[in-house]
Amino acid sequence: MTGLACVLGFLLVMGIGGADMPVVISMLNSYSGWAAAAAGFVVSNDVLIVTGALVGSSGAILSYIMCEAMNRSFVSVILGGFGEGSGAAAPTGEAKPMGEATATNVEEVAELLNDAKSVVIVPGYGMAVAQAQHSVSDITKILRKRGKEVRFGIHPVAGRMPGHMNVLLAEANVPYDIVLEMDEINDDLSETDVVLVIGANDTVNPSALDDPTSPIAGMPVMEVWKSQNVVVMKRSLGIGYAGVDNPLFYMDNNQMLFGDAKANVSALLNELAKTEKELVAA
Ligand code: TAP
Repeated sequence: MTGLACVLGFLLVMGIGGADMPVVISMLNSYSGWAAAAAGFVVSNDVLIVTGALVGSSGAILSYIMCEAMNRSFVSVILGGFGEGSGAAAPTGEAKPMGEATATNVEEVAELLNDAKSVVIVPGYGMAVAQAQHSVSDITKILRKRGKEVRFGIHPVAGRMPGHMNVLLAEANVPYDIVLEMDEINDDLSETDVVLVIGANDTVNPSALDDPTSPIAGMPVMEVWKSQNVVVMKRSLGIGYAGVDNPLFYMDNNQMLFGDAKANVSALLNELAKTEKELVAA
């Protein structure tokens, strides 16, 4: 039985790649709940049955919601990607350069923000790793005080667990009403002056919509490239969780602010605070 279970487990996950992986992880959590509930029946333990069923059903509901958000078929993901080309395993290693990316610096980004009327911040896993959420919250306060419209766009699978970005922003006291889900803000991005992408990669990758051969093909993404200016803050042109290169980095309206997100966001905060003092002095 143990050997068979190992083979079954391997076969069920070996075909999964790219952005489908979080769904499978949540599905495996769900299976562990159902297994606990079944064990509860065997040993006649009501607590085990109830807690197992809770874990099993909540994991299954979460997996279903994630599939809906990522435009994936629930059945095909739990059957190991069977019947879906997009379930192909992600390529490994460094991505090939697709052109030339434009690098920028903190002063230029501060100027861009000073001139903007509307700003959308799109956080990702890198913001969580760098723990930059408090400085991001301070930047938001400064920009809002200057009368700019600042909102956050949250992709359903940004970060590494459901609600990851929402929790970090709530912890940093970002008001709830300016934190919007991807579907609520995607249509407004074409009328946005500046989008700040902080440590996100797969969730802003246009190849999910343009390239049917991409491992993340079909996944809805934040369409940040439709805005007037995009600034991506990350340390390199490297790949994200799904292991695919991101054509956004090479687009004409995109600039890269390389470096650790915390260091760059803090430097940006200082730069904005400096202009704030200059404005007060004038
Ligand atoms: P990712 O695509 O994983 O990209 C994160 C980027 O952050 C990396 O490319 C990395 O680039 C950058 N980064 C890392 N540390 C940084 C730092 N200290 N400062 C600045 N940048 C840093 O992130 P995403 O857009 O949030 O997408 C999430 C991915 O995770 C999706 O593929 C999703 O399917 C998957 N996933 C999600 C979940 C859930 S439920 N949310 C669970 C498991 C997996 P550099 O190395 O160049 O800095």
